[in-house]
Amino acid sequence: MFHIIGTGMYVPERIVTNDELATMVDTNDEWIKQRVGIAERRVSTEEWTSEMAYKAALAALENANCKPEDLDYIITATVSGETVSPSTACMVQKLLGATCPAMEINAACSAFLFLLETAAGFFARKKANKILVVGAERLSGIIDWSDRGTCIIFGDGAGAAVLSNDVDGYLDSVVTVQGNDEVIKILTAVGCSPFFTKEADTPYVHMMGQETFKYAVSSICNDVNTLLTQNNLTLDDISYIVPHQANKRIIDFAAKRLKTTEDKFYVNIERYGNTSSASIPIALDELNRAGKLKHGDYIILTAFGGGLANAACLLRW
Ligand code: UT7
Repeated sequence: MFHIIGTGMYVPERIVTNDELATMVDTNDEWIKQRVGIAERRVSTEEWTSEMAYKAALAALENANCKPEDLDYIITATVSGETVSPSTACMVQKLLGATCPAMEINAACSAFLFLLETAAGFFARKKANKILVVGAERLSGIIDWSDRGTCIIFGDGAGAAVLSNDVDGYLDSVVTVQGNDEVIKILTAVGCSPFFTKEADTPYVHMMGQETFKYAVSSICNDVNTLLTQNNLTLDDISYIVPHQANKRIIDFAAKRLKTTEDKFYVNIERYGNTSSASIPIALDELNRAGKLKHGDYIILTAFGGGLANAACLLRW
């Protein structure tokens, strides 16, 4: 089917520490570190989502030794693009000077896994040799900065990967959606239609933290176990589990329930917070560039979030 031949990431320069947040809402560094595992996050001061996506894409293309004209598709994911149309994918195509088709997927924090699953379809139909996938978010633009239950968690950034059909490294996947707008909801602006009569809440991220937490732990465990069982593998065969970075305690609980050690999971949430669709490709890029992924390694990616959508996949590097 396909394998990943290059990765890239981009985060904006501006760092917001927990101490700085504590000057804005009733919180403190100790609580955030203990309950969520975040020390700091990046926040965009002047870049739109598509500009961050472009920078991550450029890094991934360079890492893959590919040119924009080699691409057959660009597929992006975001919940925080600056425009609904053109999509972030179209803007990345323009900024790269590429000419291939480009489109966007919305599956919130699980979206990078949906990008891979969608790309797999194009490869299976022999419609592509190379596909660029990008998760990019400017979540700082859709957060209520007076809500301590959400503003401490999220960060901005982008991650990208170039996929190529020459080797089959996308071995298996699980994708689950349970439509639900109670637990996590990101509202868009209601608009100013004189005909629309429904009351609307603020156009920001609304989340029931504890419900999301429980759903996250059980979806990681179920999805990882499903992939292991379906492929006759055990956790000993897996070099890394790369989870969506939402809360360090979610990862610790999942590790405990899976009866494995925390170091099986790659964690970088302390530096970036939760960057939604960008969190897994950012983590993958860090692992890749640190030389921690060896040819032939089994890796599991696992994500959960708004939708509710959760997904996981088994890769051979
Ligand atoms: O990527 C999308 C998916 N999102 C997630 O996976 C997020 C999952 N959920 C979480 O990460 C956690 O539920 C939160 C970080 C959102 C909240 O942590 P929690 O451990 O579930 O806290 P809680 O809501 O149960 O609150 C515990 C206490 C409360 O005080 P009392 O009532 O026990 O006195 C809260 O008022 O902590 C208080 N609290 C805070 N204190 C300081 C809640 N938020 C904060 C805060 N700073 N930011």
